[in-house]
Amino acid sequence: MARTYLVTGGAGFIGSNYIHYMFRIYGDGIRIINADALTYAGNLENLRDLEDRENYTFVKADITDKEAIRAIFQENDIDRVVHFAAESHVDRSIRDPEVFVQTNVLGTAVVLNCAKEAWEQPDGSFKEGKKFLHVSTDEVYGSLEEDGGYFYETTPYAPHSPYSASKAASDFLVRSYIDTYHFPANITNCSNNYGPYQFPEKLIPLMINNALHGRKLPVYGDGKNVRDWLYVEDHAKAIDLVQEKGRLGETYNIGGHNEKQNIEIIHIIIETLLEMLPEDDARRKLISTDLISYVEDRKGHDRRYAIAPDKIKAEIGWEPETMFKEGIRKTIAWYFEHEDWMENVTSGDYQKYYEEMYKGN
Ligand code: NAD
Ligand code: TYD
Repeated sequence: MARTYLVTGGAGFIGSNYIHYMFRIYGDGIRIINADALTYAGNLENLRDLEDRENYTFVKADITDKEAIRAIFQENDIDRVVHFAAESHVDRSIRDPEVFVQTNVLGTAVVLNCAKEAWEQPDGSFKEGKKFLHVSTDEVYGSLEEDGGYFYETTPYAPHSPYSASKAASDFLVRSYIDTYHFPANITNCSNNYGPYQFPEKLIPLMINNALHGRKLPVYGDGKNVRDWLYVEDHAKAIDLVQEKGRLGETYNIGGHNEKQNIEIIHIIIETLLEMLPEDDARRKLISTDLISYVEDRKGHDRRYAIAPDKIKAEIGWEPETMFKEGIRKTIAWYFEHEDWMENVTSGDYQKYYEEMYKGN
């Protein structure tokens, strides 16, 4: 029988890329149930092409709703959980921290506990072959100096933003289940992702969208904060490989070996847009470095993140495959081809899509 996955947060950026990746790799060999509350960041348009698949089901469910999550486990024999659902934007967490604690901490506790309940046997061991993967971030490790060092799996946690603090708390909960119950789980801590379907509140899609409309490109602080960028499909592949080949109970860091200052990213986006837009495209006139606008810095802004993905390479053989130059071209090409998606997302129309598609559900 096909293995059954419960994916939480599958209507978001990384979750929807992961679901597409999994169907591309396994086809009808797997079944995926996508449980998502459809917050502002969840968009069923991201999965529209999969709606007719017999082996794909969407369930509108909030991970903090114990009864709803428990029902999914009772009604289905779930083999794998891949837990993406979270509030994910640092700026929002600075303005409104509480929902981050609700979703990221309490929600993770609910999903973990429902999986434990469904998989635990009378003798305290877990049913054969069941696995839980908790998707987390490198931001739990805090901030690095500009001139050196990397995050390793052994780096002590030192989160600074309410977002990273809530993710750190959720990681600790998963670790506690591993240590206390020998719960069959892995944790992955990944660097910044970019690619198709990313909500335009995050740096790369925001800059692409603003540049194409001739709007200002807001750079926080001096623009020299460094992030380690990974193409989202490489992350999806890493998650699958960790779940299939990783040692249970272990944490794996996933990173792009691709550190760049924010201001460099913005220059690359401007150059690539100008390279890719046809000569007669009117938008070319709107795009220039004059749009760059330095604005007030983010509060508590982490200076640098960088992952050393040595463990995942040595144990699992995973390495980033997409060079930034290629990844950013693929990303920009996707946004060119999906202007409607961007319009719907920025106008909020995508939420109406759900109402129309799933009336009364
Ligand atoms: P996203 O914000 O694009 O998507 C989050 C999804 O979770 C949305 O579909 C949303 O509707 C859903 N969701 C939110 N609250 C929910 C709730 N209470 N119940 C059910 N569903 C809920 O996020 P993303 O960028 O795709 O990130 C996914 C995961 O990967 C997160 O756990 C994040 O911490 C982690 N991560 C992200 C990055 C990155 O660069 N984006 C890097 C490393 C790790
Ligand atoms: P973001 O995409 O929000 O990811 P994270 O904060 O989780 O790393 O931001 C990436 C970097 O870009 C971060 O250093 C903040 C900066 N930034 C800007 O300078 N301007 C912007 O408008 C945004 C959204 C981010």
